[in-house]
Amino acid sequence: MLVLDSILFLSLALLLEPRFGGLALHEWIGLAIIPLIVVHILFGWGWIATSMVRLFRPGLWRLRVNALLNLLLFVALVVTCFSGVMTSFVALPALGIAPRNFEGWRILHNRSEAYLEVLAALHVAMNWSWIANAVSGLVGGGSNRAGVDSTAAAKAPVSQP
Ligand code: HEM
Repeated sequence: MLVLDSILFLSLALLLEPRFGGLALHEWIGLAIIPLIVVHILFGWGWIATSMVRLFRPGLWRLRVNALLNLLLFVALVVTCFSGVMTSFVALPALGIAPRNFEGWRILHNRSEAYLEVLAALHVAMNWSWIANAVSGLVGGGSNRAGVDSTAAAKAPVSQP
């Protein structure tokens, strides 16, 4: 999970600066990230299912904010990836499809990636304790400072609230 998350984080950092490596690399990384996001969501499915049940219980404001943030992040990812595909110079033409309304999709892509940037940063910040726990468990050889098994920490959904 931590490996996948690290790959996702690095890919996103590369995607946010298309001039690094060029547009073709940007497009292929952009396409490759889509199945990774699906797997990331599947890994977090336990958290999603538990949160849905607990969402309307009194008090759990952190959970609600986190769930809303995750939803917005998901929407931003879908819009950014889809509009990116529609402005594609390399990937879409390689599949024999010429983009229509290129300018419209390009504007949408540039706007949505700006939201995505902020939301991804907030997502990392909200889940920082999980990340710190998993990393310290990894570095500490299986148990972190709190004495929690890192493999269990990596599998467990983010603690709430
Ligand atoms: C999470 C996924 C993605 C992120 C974060 C992202 C981010 C960005 C950013 C920051 C830019 C530069 C905007 C600017 O110059 O102001 C850009 C441009 C571009 N992206 Fe993406 N992108 C993603 C996915 C994709 C995908 C999947 C494709 C196509 C397969 C794609 C194709 C393009 C193209 C063609 C441009 C240049 C548009 C132009 O001429 O301004 N992107 N993207």
